[in-house]
Amino acid sequence: MKNKLRQLIQSRDVQVSVIGLGYVGLPLAVGFAEKGINVIGLDNDSNRISSIFAAKGSIAGVNAERIANVCTGDIPSLTLTTNYDALLKADVVIICVPTPLKDDTVPDLSFVEAAATEISKRLHDGMLIVLESTTYPGTTEELLLDLFKSSNPSRSPLVIGENYFLSFSPERIDPGRTDYTIANTPKVVGGVTADCTEITAELYRILVEKVISVSSPKAAEMVKLLENTYRSVNIGLANEFALICDALGVDVWEVIEAASTKPFGYTPFYPGPGLGGHCIPVDPQYLAWKMKQLNLDTKFINLAREINQSMCQHVITKTEQALNYDGKKLAGAKILVLGVAYKNDVADIRESPGIRLIDRLMKSSALVSYHDKYVPEITLDERLVSSVELTPQLLSDSDCVVIATAHSYYPLDLIVGQSSILIDTRNATSKYSGEHGNVIKL
Ligand SMILES: NC(=O)c1ccc[n+]([C@@H]2O[C@H](COP(=O)([O-])OP(=O)(O)OC[C@H]3O[C@@H](n4cnc5c(N)ncnc54)[C@H](O)[C@@H]3O)[C@@H](O)[C@H]2O)c1
Repeated sequence: MKNKLRQLIQSRDVQVSVIGLGYVGLPLAVGFAEKGINVIGLDNDSNRISSIFAAKGSIAGVNAERIANVCTGDIPSLTLTTNYDALLKADVVIICVPTPLKDDTVPDLSFVEAAATEISKRLHDGMLIVLESTTYPGTTEELLLDLFKSSNPSRSPLVIGENYFLSFSPERIDPGRTDYTIANTPKVVGGVTADCTEITAELYRILVEKVISVSSPKAAEMVKLLENTYRSVNIGLANEFALICDALGVDVWEVIEAASTKPFGYTPFYPGPGLGGHCIPVDPQYLAWKMKQLNLDTKFINLAREINQSMCQHVITKTEQALNYDGKKLAGAKILVLGVAYKNDVADIRESPGIRLIDRLMKSSALVSYHDKYVPEITLDERLVSSVELTPQLLSDSDCVVIATAHSYYPLDLIVGQSSILIDTRNATSKYSGEHGNVIKL
């Protein structure tokens, strides 16, 4: 079976299906289709499929032109569906569904389980299944393999590594980034057997310049968790330095900038109002949860989470202190928050620290509005809140302006010039330092 599948991959006659057409799955499906591979994009949300077809600008980091190029024509290379029976003719299935948390700390694998259950009903000779969703170590073998092994007992059993293949390959995409793409970011693969790894590596070589094989799915799962835990812990350290520098009256940004001049042994990370995005605040919790089952305490992960989560309160405290200094109270103060996307120049609001900040400020009875051209509205406590227009009047009418996300389109001269108090959590105003007493940095 391996040789047959390899031949299909090498001749580009392989039929690939991608399950979950979000930030990870859509670029992957389009990428394979652009290489001339026949791709079926499967998503259980029909609105998602309609919005991909109707895309005008960019969707999940893929521009509408690229989508149109592969989805239209007499024989489109990418077809989109909500029907799992499309998997009956798939040689390869790549799972890219969400892996969020329940109650902030417990992995929610219901999306992966739902997708795997549908695959197991259609598992057939010669199929390769790859899990890309980030998850705790052991998921590929403990959850997927077990499910596939027990699927459809009435049929003659399919043998892993002989009749079908299963691997884990973490996605490393950074939404909004243009210098590192799927093509030039090395891809890690780890299969249940050596043949699973080999055939998975062969598949990704269609798309990616460099494929790194590791010895098992568990090792590949751990690679992703190490990468994201590394970021979480180092951002936690940068945040702790921000708290220390604040107490010492030192500018943490100046310290980081100067430390960054060391050509070896130091990589800069930056403080901020808290972690955001689907990965860094979530993924280390998957590992922490798994290790808790094995009675192992993940001290670095837990401490970084605690420090990172405390930053929202630190920003509120600084805001309140600045208002008090001006003879005002937080309750009833007009506060404008700039930026609710979790990072600059994207529209993604998952785990957004800006939204957390707005929520907490509102609960402290502040009168909060926000501006973000990428995010026209947000829902807070089931209430729809719309982005306001950024005008000189709005800035000067606000008692305090907080930069939560430093989008590059901000008119900083205007913001610095018109705000009576400006709390800058991102060092967006670095070039104004010292000259403007109204600017307070983290
Ligand atoms: N977004 C990132 O930057 C990023 C980077 C690396 C890894 N990851 C990981 O990749 C995975 C996917 O993340 P994402 O950001 O693409 O998520 P997303 O929410 O953008 O997209 C997931 C898609 O899967 C669909 N879906 C959910 N359950 C389904 C099911 N049972 N069958 C078919 N479709 C289903 C949803 O409708 C949605 O369109 C997660 O595990 C995430 O941690 C994300």
